[in-house]
Amino acid sequence: MSVTRTIIRSVGAYLPERIVTNEELSTFVDTSDEWILERTGIKQRHMAAQGEFTSHFAVAAAKMALERAGLAASEIDMIIVGTTTPDRTFPSTACIVQAELGMTNGAAFDLQAACSGFLYGLAIADSFIVAGAYKRILVIGAETLTRLMDWTDRNTCVLFGDGAGATIVEGIEGQGDLSDRGILACHLRSDGRYRDLLTATGGPSSTKSIGTVQMNGREVFRHAVANISDAIHEALQATGFGADDIDWFVPHQANGRILEGVAKRVGLPDDKIIITLDRQGNTSAASVPLALNSLYESGKLESNQLVLFEAMGGGFTWGSVLVRW
Ligand code: ACO
Repeated sequence: MSVTRTIIRSVGAYLPERIVTNEELSTFVDTSDEWILERTGIKQRHMAAQGEFTSHFAVAAAKMALERAGLAASEIDMIIVGTTTPDRTFPSTACIVQAELGMTNGAAFDLQAACSGFLYGLAIADSFIVAGAYKRILVIGAETLTRLMDWTDRNTCVLFGDGAGATIVEGIEGQGDLSDRGILACHLRSDGRYRDLLTATGGPSSTKSIGTVQMNGREVFRHAVANISDAIHEALQATGFGADDIDWFVPHQANGRILEGVAKRVGLPDDKIIITLDRQGNTSAASVPLALNSLYESGKLESNQLVLFEAMGGGFTWGSVLVRW
């Protein structure tokens, strides 16, 4: 039976020029390169300069994805931007991106699911495409998380970085079985009971300010390993694939130790796991498409390979998406 499948046609990325190493960070935060590297795997992160906004990174990543696909912005039907750090409370960063790309057709909106924003966006784009409502969607994860840092809180400020990744997804015809290219499984979850374990202390309706990130690191760690592993098991169970069948694991880049824990539970070997957090830190919603871009640029990603994405963030929100490239 012929069905519509959503393929990832193109990917792009952008990182701000300024790099802050752990050594530089330890000149103004009570921390050290050894501590950060050992506990997280992070060596450096990119940081937005004054005057650089989330939309600037999103536009740059989107332009790269469009160019690689040989597409004009007018050929896109919808823009979804996963972000926790929009340029403004409103209008959406997606509308700003739409205007900057010179696109006057289609629809654009932001999606707030913290670090899971890109993955949620991918799953929603898949639903629109499979339903036949839209043909080609730009799904972006873009952040300036460093703007939400309390630079006196060493528990959080050493972890995050800025940047953006973009994908263009579109519908193709498939046979309706697991040999199809495109998205084969999406599993999204959330549990708002844990909203205070990883949160920003402000918001437009409560404090009229943006606040700063606050986190219970140990609890987040515990839930992250369990939730991410569950989401991966769901993807495998739904499709009947085993961990051995996965060619590439493209995870949210929260923390090297979380990834080690997940890899052990699920049975994924190190050489299939894409790691960018050593160079980029945790870029929240941008981290999955940035990691995908890194895999793409390595030249190792081949048509028909199975790529497993996962993310987990504040809310808690989490999930997995399995794609045949
Ligand atoms: N530099 C030096 N020392 C530090 C730092 C730092 N940056 N941060 C904390 N410490 C100290 C603490 O003050 C504490 O000192 P004490 O024993 O004298 O009180 C000590 O290190 C141990 O602190 P813990 O919080 O117990 O450290 P832990 O081993 O749990 O590591 C970490 C902290 C890395 C945050 C860990 O809990 C973790 O990985 N949590 C997951 C959170 C995460 O990755 N969040 C990202 C966002 S969520 C997401 O994207 C999924």
